[in-house]
Amino acid sequence: MTTDVDYTKYWGLQTLPFDNVPDPRFYVPCTQHDTAYQWLSYGIQTRKGMLLLTGDIGCGKTLLSRRLIGGLSPAQYDIALVANPALSPSELLDEVLSQFGLDPVRSKARRLQQLNERLQLNAQRGISSVLIVDEAQAIERVKGFEELRLLTNFQLNDRYLLTVVLIGQPELRHRVANIPQLNQRIAVRAHLGPFTAEETTSYMKARMGIATHRTDVFTKEAVAAIYEQTQGIGRLINALCDQCLFAGSLENMVEIDDRLVQRVGQCR
Ligand SMILES: Nc1ncnc2c1ncn2[C@@H]1O[C@H](COP(=O)(O)OP(=O)(O)OP(=O)(O)O)[C@@H](O)[C@H]1O
Ligand SMILES: [Mg+2]
Repeated sequence: MTTDVDYTKYWGLQTLPFDNVPDPRFYVPCTQHDTAYQWLSYGIQTRKGMLLLTGDIGCGKTLLSRRLIGGLSPAQYDIALVANPALSPSELLDEVLSQFGLDPVRSKARRLQQLNERLQLNAQRGISSVLIVDEAQAIERVKGFEELRLLTNFQLNDRYLLTVVLIGQPELRHRVANIPQLNQRIAVRAHLGPFTAEETTSYMKARMGIATHRTDVFTKEAVAAIYEQTQGIGRLINALCDQCLFAGSLENMVEIDDRLVQRVGQCR
């Protein structure tokens, strides 16, 4: 994107470094994200029934889910992603079918039968079936969770036919904990918190590194101020850095210092 108000030219950047999109190409490695990825990959590859990824708002859960999906070969995995599960229990089941590319049918028994047939066929072909539900804290009723739990009843003698990955904000953990029959089925749990101060520094360096070789745009004090204002939350870091780069270009600054960060932060 290049417009008159675009700051990339001003700072000599090849692209916008802090675009707030969960694009796996811009993933910045960090220990807790890598660990969560490894746990979830393990759960999927060993065909566990149910996995849970929770994390603070804006800390990278959706990005992690996209990395997971990108890392699973379509020849070996049949993946359905439900991105908006704020639905009634029956609509949720419909959405699961639709995301597996199955036609909608009226009766619930027929829907379950259709899904079972698909999972069985996948298993016969050596393909694992995975259902990822993002924003699962938005599932309206306990009954919605119950529908998802019942899907893990599709099993052969020795393995689950479907791995369900629930992803959501911290309250998801509490909702799941209040449904013991669901909670007990969670085979793998992972959690993403905010970046530490050190991780924030590495994160900003890496994101800037995508766009430029310059390492002197944000002063050390500015990076510290950004951590203080955002508490290490990825989405907030992106937004504040983006605003600082824009404000700095408007004010003809040669670098972004902590005073600019404070000023921009106060206007937000
Ligand atoms: N390790 C990382 N590498 C690169 N970008 C990251 C990383 N972690 C977080 N981000 C950035 O943070 C932003 C928010 O991430 P994401 O949308 O995945 O958060 P979320 O946990 O799903 O939030 P919500 O709770 O609102 O659904 C993304 O746009 C992404 O740019
Ligand atoms: Mg998300």
